[in-house]
Amino acid sequence: MLLKDKVAIITGASRGIGQAIAVEFARQGAKVVLSATTLDNLKETETQFKALNLTDFILTQANVTIQDEVNLVVKKALDTYGKVDILLNNAGITRDGLLALMPEKDWDDVLSTNLKSVFLFTKACVKPMVRQRSGTIINISSVIGLIGNAGQANYAASKAGVIAFTKSTAKELAKRNIRANVIAPGFIKTQMTDKLPVEQQEKIKEQIPLGRMGEPQDIADTALFLASDASKYMTGQVLVVDGGMVI
Ligand SMILES: NC(=O)c1ccc[n+]([C@@H]2O[C@H](COP(=O)([O-])OP(=O)(O)OC[C@H]3O[C@@H](n4cnc5c(N)ncnc54)[C@H](O)[C@@H]3O)[C@@H](O)[C@H]2O)c1
Repeated sequence: MLLKDKVAIITGASRGIGQAIAVEFARQGAKVVLSATTLDNLKETETQFKALNLTDFILTQANVTIQDEVNLVVKKALDTYGKVDILLNNAGITRDGLLALMPEKDWDDVLSTNLKSVFLFTKACVKPMVRQRSGTIINISSVIGLIGNAGQANYAASKAGVIAFTKSTAKELAKRNIRANVIAPGFIKTQMTDKLPVEQQEKIKEQIPLGRMGEPQDIADTALFLASDASKYMTGQVLVVDGGMVI
């Protein structure tokens, strides 16, 4: 078990990539703090945990854009488990649209949910991690944050911001034995991509050398590597997991 007795906070754990990571971390022995916008949203993840006989977890609720709510998640983790070893910032949204027509609210919502949230959670976890003199932070960006995409100016900016934020965090916290890395997924099968028109999904698949969309488990496997000691000499890195889409 690669994460035995590690305490991990995972945002957006109600479905998709966040849920797969939560299950994988728990399977590897971690005590998991599941976070979602509502406790109701976490019911499906809770059912999965129970079906797999994974019992060491707590449910927390927070809108990741609100510092007070974020602080409460970290407090609950510390009250329950006494430490935070792993922070996995996964919650994210898309509000796609052409730039000239993009409502300011869509810009603000995407930047807050995808980027400000990473700042808020990292800030809340840094104090306990510095006290422990250890920690690992994993932020979920996107290949779109590396190459941009027409119709996703807000999303691309937020995900590029996550990369720059993580590199700064890595430099600032390395002396405290805290690592920070990024996963940049390509096209992964979740509710986020299910809502794209089928023709668009087919077009994207044609651009993937490995010839298929990724599964949430593909990202969970990479997150496990970054969370574990197998990556102990890595910080400030971006791991692209995209079937070769942006070679
Ligand atoms: N699916 C892909 O192809 C893909 C590709 C690259 C990057 N990503 C990124 O991976 C992450 C997970 O995406 P997914 O595909 O599993 O999407 P998803 O839509 O299935 O899940 C997103 C999760 O974020 C949560 N969330 C959204 N807004 C929130 C808020 N304000 N407060 C708390 N939680 C909130 C949702 O409740 C949900 O649990 C996102 O950051 C996404 O940008 C996904």
